[in-house]
Amino acid sequence: MENKYISMIESCLPTLLPSEDCYEKVVIEAMKYSLLAPGKRIRPTLLLAFCEACGGDVTAALPYACAVEMVHSYSLIHDDLPCLDNDDLRRGRPSNHIVYGEDIALLAGDALQTLAFESMLGETALEKNGIKGAKAAGILAAAAGAGGMVGGQTIDVITEGKSPSLDIVLEMYSKKTGRLLKAPCVMGCVLADADEKRIAASKVYAENIGLAFQIVDDILDITSDTSVLGKPVGSDAENNKVNYVTLLGIEEAKAKVRDLTQAAVESLDIFDRNTGFLSLLAAELASRIY
Ligand code: IPE
Ligand code: IPE
Ligand code: MG
Ligand code: MG
Ligand code: MG
Repeated sequence: MENKYISMIESCLPTLLPSEDCYEKVVIEAMKYSLLAPGKRIRPTLLLAFCEACGGDVTAALPYACAVEMVHSYSLIHDDLPCLDNDDLRRGRPSNHIVYGEDIALLAGDALQTLAFESMLGETALEKNGIKGAKAAGILAAAAGAGGMVGGQTIDVITEGKSPSLDIVLEMYSKKTGRLLKAPCVMGCVLADADEKRIAASKVYAENIGLAFQIVDDILDITSDTSVLGKPVGSDAENNKVNYVTLLGIEEAKAKVRDLTQAAVESLDIFDRNTGFLSLLAAELASRIY
């Protein structure tokens, strides 16, 4: 899933980390360990791609793209902790808490979350983006919190070993995964000063790929292998997770991914730039299960 935005994102990320020149540098090392580990960088890519699709300044948007990756990276550190999924491997490396211990992993996650907001609301970012920058930060805050990712992770925890309805499972998906994929799409549009129609279309694209993305992740937890995923397979079964695949089976889940990807691609008609890239991205995310 190589693309032209990844090198921009990967050169910017280290510049936003705090200096390690302090007594407590271990927490900064732990932040760096997870943030700079080889991830797919889908969320920041989406932000830059939508910004470009709406004719915005991709360079000015970079700190916002990196901020979304920071919040995502924090969510992964916490997701792997023994009190949540208890997974030892992430992005092909030992999980943060395996290397730094649970205490430092927890703190590194906390600090990545606030670093995201520092990056978006610092003087340089705000000087370039003005009120649009503040709006983008607000969108990420809402997506990450109790009404978004944290809420979805809570549904994930409280439904373990229970029999939630399909509606609850879909709500969990839309919050724990969908919101952190939708936020960058909308933020990219907002930073480019896009009109309401384009913002609405970016939401439709994001809702479809967001749901597809978590269904794909849940299928891969059953069918893939650790060396490909860089994280343990079989983790969901071990934790008695209930998800789309356990409720409806792999074939139906795959058909749903196809439909959602199709709907995502159709939502792009309104944009005049970059639609080829965004449809390819939707198709590539789905193709991980074929
Ligand atoms: C993993 O996200 C967490 C989920 C929401 C399923 P990614 O699959 O995007 O993980 P990285 O960033 O590539 O490691
Ligand atoms: C992750 O869902 C959602 C997050 C908000 C981090 P999973 O628990 O399925 O993600 P992986 O499979 O560990 O990456
Ligand atoms: Mg989880
Ligand atoms: Mg997990
Ligand atoms: Mg998973």
